Amino acid sequence: MTTPHHNAIVVLTGAGISKESGLDTFRDADGVWAKVGVEEVATPEAFARDPVKVHDFYNSRRRTLMKGTVVPNAAHAALARLEAEWPGEVLIVTQNIDDLHERAGSRNLVHMHGEHLKVRCQDCGAVYAWTDDLAVDSACLACGGTGGMRPHVVWFGEMPLEMERIYAALEGCALFVSVGTSGNVYPAAGFVRHVRQFTEAHTVELNLEPSLGASLFAEARYGRATEVVPRFVDELLSLAAEDAADFRRALLRR
Ligand code: APR
Ligand code: ZN
Repeated sequence: MTTPHHNAIVVLTGAGISKESGLDTFRDADGVWAKVGVEEVATPEAFARDPVKVHDFYNSRRRTLMKGTVVPNAAHAALARLEAEWPGEVLIVTQNIDDLHERAGSRNLVHMHGEHLKVRCQDCGAVYAWTDDLAVDSACLACGGTGGMRPHVVWFGEMPLEMERIYAALEGCALFVSVGTSGNVYPAAGFVRHVRQFTEAHTVELNLEPSLGASLFAEARYGRATEVVPRFVDELLSLAAEDAADFRRALLRR
């Protein structure tokens, strides 16, 4: 057991935290994968087979994200406040490729599945911000090559990003919170098990309904993220005032 930094927090987020901002989740009845198949647009094979179809899929979702009506909600804001006011490190590990955590003010953040508003050149490896449509003949800003540009998004069958940093944070935390994820996709779905194996951290699931991993969490609260997350953050921050020294004991006592 690694000794946790006595009050480091890791928060894993999924599509459910962005639902009330107007972005579809993936596996709800009205979700993304109910409208188009993963294997058609979210695998390297799909991109090799039909890059235009994959670009169209990500271009339309990037345009949606760029609409003024899609803004961070109270759950994103609560997590940014937690990072700003908590007397210890707060790391958000998000599976989401939207930029709503950043726009809410979060800074200590890892996009393990990449980012909608960045692109990557397969020829030179450059990754940079891109908010327009991307096309097969888009030219790389770094090497000038065309035909090698792809969304900077992790597809099924590809390795998520920054996994060493994520596992190090999981192994050093005193509290692990999972928000708005169904627990369908690994490695994120295995993080709670990893935390339990390597630490004595408290584990909490905040979700609309029990995820596949619900039974692995010491505590769970169900409801919409914009209600459940701010309330949980308020409780944490009031604890911090009383008992940051050993907030884990305080957490369990409440
Ligand atoms: N508040 C809180 N939770 C919600 C809300 C809400 N308003 N609406 C839906 N949810 C919950 C659903 O109950 C579900 O458990 O959010 C979860 C969304 O699950 P998924 O649609 O599977 O999304 P996610 O878990 O983020 O998917 C993981 O799969 O397709 C890949 O790369 C993609 O990052 C994604 C990964
Ligand atoms: Zn390039």
